[in-house]
Amino acid sequence: MNAETLGRRFARLATNLVMRNPRLWSVLRRPIRFQFDRLAPRWDSMRSGLVAYAPYEAALERVEPPPKRALDLGTGTGGAAFAIARGFPDTEVVGADIAGQMIEQARRNLPDDLRDRIRFDVADASKLPYGDGSFDLVGLSNMIPFFDELERVAAPGGWLIVAFSGGADTPIYVPPERLRSELERRGFTDFAEISTDPGTAMLARKRPPA
Ligand SMILES: C[S@@+](CC[C@H](N)C(=O)[O-])C[C@H]1O[C@@H](n2cnc3c(N)ncnc32)[C@H](O)[C@@H]1O
Repeated sequence: MNAETLGRRFARLATNLVMRNPRLWSVLRRPIRFQFDRLAPRWDSMRSGLVAYAPYEAALERVEPPPKRALDLGTGTGGAAFAIARGFPDTEVVGADIAGQMIEQARRNLPDDLRDRIRFDVADASKLPYGDGSFDLVGLSNMIPFFDELERVAAPGGWLIVAFSGGADTPIYVPPERLRSELERRGFTDFAEISTDPGTAMLARKRPPA
């Protein structure tokens, strides 16, 4: 088995373990960070030629009104953060990732015309350094969801996108039924499932106050 296949299997195993018990993240954090730090220099070439952000972008098209502040979690080298900023010319975007090497590459990739609206932070999605209700849009592309933090940082009425480039074949993947049940009990509503074959995305909205 080559290193890439092993890495994909480990990402799937880690996702399943965290979905079973989020506390296991405390032991998985280091190896996951190590894995993605190592992949950072090659990540863009691994992604090129794929319709990597198609489901995420299809979900973005349904988001209205345009968000004031958006967070792309597990941003990697920043592709989905750039998609948000291109889709919404007045939105301030934060891209966050636990792997410092990914964030360094994202900063190198940042085009000049987006520089004043996008910031990249090293941060852990299981314990985010942002205030409650900070973002009107939170997006995840091929990223393990930490549901309590998603609920906390999403503003009332704010949007959530959880996208997987290769649908159920994506190494980091959570089935829509599971996403929906976790999000419903945390007050998310207006669910839509989007398919861009092979990509899939779930769009939801945090219920606004009555
Ligand atoms: C499969 S990559 C996806 C990168 C990018 N979103 C994309 O679609 O190309 C997963 C990314 O999530 C990051 N990640 C994993 N767990 C994280 C966590 N708890 N907090 C922040 N980032 C995390 C990894 O470092 C990696 O960059």
